[in-house]
Amino acid sequence: MRLTQLIYTSRPFGFDEATLDDILLAARVNNARRGVTGSLICRADMFMQLLEGPRDAVTATLARILLDDRHVDVAVVHCADVPERLFPDWTMRDDPPRSWMWTREQVRAGAARDATAAEALAVFQRLALEPRAR
Ligand SMILES: Cc1cc2nc3c(=O)[nH]c(=O)nc-3n(C[C@H](O)[C@H](O)[C@H](O)COP(=O)(O)O)c2cc1C
Repeated sequence: MRLTQLIYTSRPFGFDEATLDDILLAARVNNARRGVTGSLICRADMFMQLLEGPRDAVTATLARILLDDRHVDVAVVHCADVPERLFPDWTMRDDPPRSWMWTREQVRAGAARDATAAEALAVFQRLALEPRAR
């Protein structure tokens, strides 16, 4: 089975706890069914999500996410075949901002959207090594 890994970034539209809970609930139910895992960085100024799983499942998941009006300006920053998953134990891990990530000013200036594929991947590789914080 071909394993595909994809990272996109977007801007939340109407960011609040309840909306976030709804997104994560649906994500976890659907992803478990489809064999998709990953991590979602949730910030008031930015979403960045890594999706990984069978190529068809990742594609179908992205297609639904693209239609979601709870965020805007979706930009795919990385997509590749991978030998193994970064978040095998997470149907969707939710990750709050960390001190080492881009600042709000940097995000406003386009840091996430302009990140190279390698930079975006490095963010999730680092997250995968850290315990989930909340
Ligand atoms: C930032 C963001 C991330 C999301 N991540 C996922 C996801 O990983 N998997 C998923 O199935 N839906 C995800 N969604 C939700 C989908 O857009 C969509 O609402 C959902 O799949 C619909 O599920 P339902 O048909 O079971 O209600 C996400 C939405 C947003 C805004």
